[in-house]
Amino acid sequence: MNDAEALKKIAGEAACEFVKTGMRVGLGTGSTVKYTVLELGRRVQEEGLEIVGVPTSIATQELALDVGIPLVELGSVDGLDIVIDGTDEFDPHFQLIKGGGAALLREKIVAQQSAAMVVVADERKQVECLGAFGIPIEITPFACDVTVAALSTLLNCEVILRMEGSEHKLTDNGNCIADAKIGPSINDPIATEASILNVAGVVQVGLFNNMCDAVVLASGNGVDTLMNPKGRL
Ligand code: 5RP
Repeated sequence: MNDAEALKKIAGEAACEFVKTGMRVGLGTGSTVKYTVLELGRRVQEEGLEIVGVPTSIATQELALDVGIPLVELGSVDGLDIVIDGTDEFDPHFQLIKGGGAALLREKIVAQQSAAMVVVADERKQVECLGAFGIPIEITPFACDVTVAALSTLLNCEVILRMEGSEHKLTDNGNCIADAKIGPSINDPIATEASILNVAGVVQVGLFNNMCDAVVLASGNGVDTLMNPKGRL
């Protein structure tokens, strides 16, 4: 395991401390939170941890079932106690860019239904100003080129549809996904989120504002949990 992978594992596993027996847990998507899912599965199987999970993607659903985490439909429970998820960037105000793994729509639905959100990250994800990663945006397949052009005009940057070979990459929801190459310039992520959502054809945007309560951050110095002073935890 290389250094970057080791940091993902440290962060992913450390976040499990937020999960207690009886909780309804949102299970995020990505290569960092994968380690959370693996560790929660181990605790369910070996330590009698009693939880139910709601996955944010088909990939996470398959992994969670593989490791023995009981899953439920989001609509069958009255909200979730916590969601643990990865991020592509987080800023000093705990605002996030997500969607690198194309799961942003289900991730945001689950996050909005959760009483708390804990993010797992390594130090590469910590930024002063959001945007270097780009902004993932899920859009309807109908006239997706027109929506992309409208977004490009709105944001004054290149917006690129993700491809899989010669086909548009499709999300778990059957939509297209594009990345706005805006650069580290998002000074007002709340206004940026609102303006993108105003474009017809946009299903959801990977700006997650005022949702994250804590970041479990792994670096060369070990693991640190950054608590959002305005958060719910
Ligand atoms: C998927 C996401 C991921 O959480 C995000 O891309 C981080 O993934 P990783 O931990 O693999 O870097 O938002 O849509």
